[in-house]
Amino acid sequence: MKNVVITGANRGLGLEFVRQYLAEGWQVIAGCRAPEKATELNGLQEQGNLMVLPLDVSKQQSRENFCAMLGDQAVHLFINNAGIYGPSSTPLGQVDEDQWLEVFRVNTVAPVKLIELMRKNLVSAGAANVAILSSKMGSIDDNGSGGLYMYRSSKSAVNSVTKSLAIDLAAEQINVVSLHPGWVLTDMGGPNALIDVTTSVSGMRRVLENLNSSQSGSFIAYDGTIIPW
Ligand SMILES: NC(=O)c1ccc[n+]([C@@H]2O[C@H](COP(=O)([O-])OP(=O)(O)OC[C@H]3O[C@@H](n4cnc5c(N)ncnc54)[C@H](OP(=O)(O)O)[C@@H]3O)[C@@H](O)[C@H]2O)c1
Repeated sequence: MKNVVITGANRGLGLEFVRQYLAEGWQVIAGCRAPEKATELNGLQEQGNLMVLPLDVSKQQSRENFCAMLGDQAVHLFINNAGIYGPSSTPLGQVDEDQWLEVFRVNTVAPVKLIELMRKNLVSAGAANVAILSSKMGSIDDNGSGGLYMYRSSKSAVNSVTKSLAIDLAAEQINVVSLHPGWVLTDMGGPNALIDVTTSVSGMRRVLENLNSSQSGSFIAYDGTIIPW
């Protein structure tokens, strides 16, 4: 049986990843900030092998407790999904420094700190994949409308993190990619989004299923297209 660790698993894309990997027969280890309130996620326990553990990705103690609970289990796939958008509008002149650092802590720093702690679990899988949920909004090439300093920069920076991790972990047979899920109907994506979570997650699963080492360090959309940095 293969193990997948998913962060931010209580709603949105994270919850759909849990649903789909359970349906495929994986053991799913789901992290969320408040397991006692995660009704929908806990309801999936009947669907398969699901472990729900507390995890606030922005706090080192919580990251350490979460990874300690993984013990020596192999992790074949780590999906770093938890993310925040920050304020919906950050016009120049009103960019709040503390809010920006918090967006960075969750979107950019947390994936690295979690991978540091989970590295032995990824190694013991023999070969593993790491998917970091990024966003096309982090593509500098694609930025045609400006603004959104916090979210855009945090995702551009995590793309840089992906590249370094891919290089640093290649010898341990760990592939690392940034994924763009599309513009998806979730709390973050809002009601005008273009695709549903089923389409987005099944597309990203397909990308991960077919991933090989030559693609490690890439920025890939849910439909398999490569996104310019
Ligand atoms: N939806 C889109 O159109 C879209 C597009 C591009 C990229 N993305 C990326 O895809 C990922 C998932 O997005 P989504 O649309 O599913 O967002 P969402 O509906 O807002 O859900 C975000 C998830 O992240 C969790 N989270 C936030 N801060 C956390 C923290 N400190 N510790 C642990 N969990 C935390 C939330 O938990 P709580 O319930 O506790 O807040 C929630 O489970 C994000 O990285 C996002 O940037 C989404």
